[in-house]
Amino acid sequence: MGLARFTVSKVTIMAAKWAPDSWTSHEARQLPNYPDAAALAAATKQLTSYPPLVFAGEARNLTTDLARVVEGKAFLLQGGDCAESFAEFHPNNIRDTFRVILQMAVVLTFASKLPVVKLGRMAGQFAKPRSTDTETIDGVELPSYRGDNVNDIAFTPEGRTPDPQRMIQGYSQSAATLNLLRAFAQGGYANLHQVHRWTHDFLGSSPWAKKYAETADRIGEALEFMEACGINPDTVPQLGQTQFYTSHEALLLQYEQAMTRQDSLTGDWYDTSAHFLWIGDRTRFDGSAHVEFLRGIGNPIGLKCGPSLEPDVLLRLLDTLNPARVPGRMTLITRYGHDKIEAGLPKLVRAVKREGHQVIWSCDPMHGNVIKAANGYKTRPFERILAEVRGFFAVHRAEGTFAGGIHAEMTGQNVTECTGGAVDVTEQSLADRYHTHCDPRLNAGQSLELAFLLAEMLNDELRQRRAEAA
Ligand code: PEP
Ligand code: CO
Repeated sequence: MGLARFTVSKVTIMAAKWAPDSWTSHEARQLPNYPDAAALAAATKQLTSYPPLVFAGEARNLTTDLARVVEGKAFLLQGGDCAESFAEFHPNNIRDTFRVILQMAVVLTFASKLPVVKLGRMAGQFAKPRSTDTETIDGVELPSYRGDNVNDIAFTPEGRTPDPQRMIQGYSQSAATLNLLRAFAQGGYANLHQVHRWTHDFLGSSPWAKKYAETADRIGEALEFMEACGINPDTVPQLGQTQFYTSHEALLLQYEQAMTRQDSLTGDWYDTSAHFLWIGDRTRFDGSAHVEFLRGIGNPIGLKCGPSLEPDVLLRLLDTLNPARVPGRMTLITRYGHDKIEAGLPKLVRAVKREGHQVIWSCDPMHGNVIKAANGYKTRPFERILAEVRGFFAVHRAEGTFAGGIHAEMTGQNVTECTGGAVDVTEQSLADRYHTHCDPRLNAGQSLELAFLLAEMLNDELRQRRAEAA
């Protein structure tokens, strides 16, 4: 506690010249051009007066949980949609993604015996960076779609015009989603005794569904044994509920600024739109407005690290974003691509280790592995996703660092967006249920399969560590 207070006050001193709007004097990429400044001011003013979605104390609890991942005593599981959408807003979608994350966490915990920190890309993951500002179809040029809280995916001049009222709708959807997630996490749904029920009907044919049922049987037996010893959700409330945190890319700074509040307990600033915010690969450059904004908030934060990130830039960013070197504050989310990770990642890992920064290394095996199928669909082959995860573990084994987390774009739905997996999605079947508003996601079966294969890798790693320590 003494240490925490000391570091918090140090952050306050070092970020002295920061203000929620100090990002506006820095170079901002990937922000929409709102044509109506008065409408933008009115919407952000309204948001500023709305209740916070999360509390500072919850964000601090997440930092504490993440500090255990830094030490190699827990594992981080972050996942959800590439982009949430207004059209797909439905309690069943939220429930299905929540339960596939629970399933993955159970598989990982059961195999590794490590606690899993569960972090949804949910309840606020709306804004998207794009490679070009405009899109041209049949000679018509319009602004690119930047996510449902900015504009509409429909390719019409009205649809593509950034509309600040969409931020208000994004806030409402986030509030309702978070409310349901809190109920699922704490109201009985996540009770470990329900472990058999977290499965999905459509998983019937997957060999991994069978393996999951076997794992659930063994957990059930352990619970019965514990019950006989007097350990049940009444005596140990952790058995009856779980901690579930939310996250999104802090891209739309007008929205994030409006959601930022000063904590009455500590005087520090927190972005109350989510527990955890990350900076995308396109907005993490030196001098960036996004870096400026995130350095001043107390939430734990992520930084996407792609092939173009040089070690000296990363070290400067770490000094800026975590000057007090608070463990759990920084998660480095690497996204190289299956064929680049083993050559590219070691230089970052060595630099960070040499300078003594304490970070979580988490693997995003999605964003470096997008290809275009012959029929034009953007997809990600499951075997490349797995290959990147394998490469990630191999690098951390060689460098003596902890492979601490996974960051996946996934859904609890039975979509056909990524090819491969045990119930093979072929390029021809991509058209069947391709629903994403942005990048292709793993479906529930592929997510479960990834969790089992990942659990094996994590377990091997922990075994080797134990053998070395003995
Ligand atoms: C994302 O996570 O959806 C994303 C755009 O990732 P990146 O910034 O790594 O490209
Ligand atoms: Co994405």
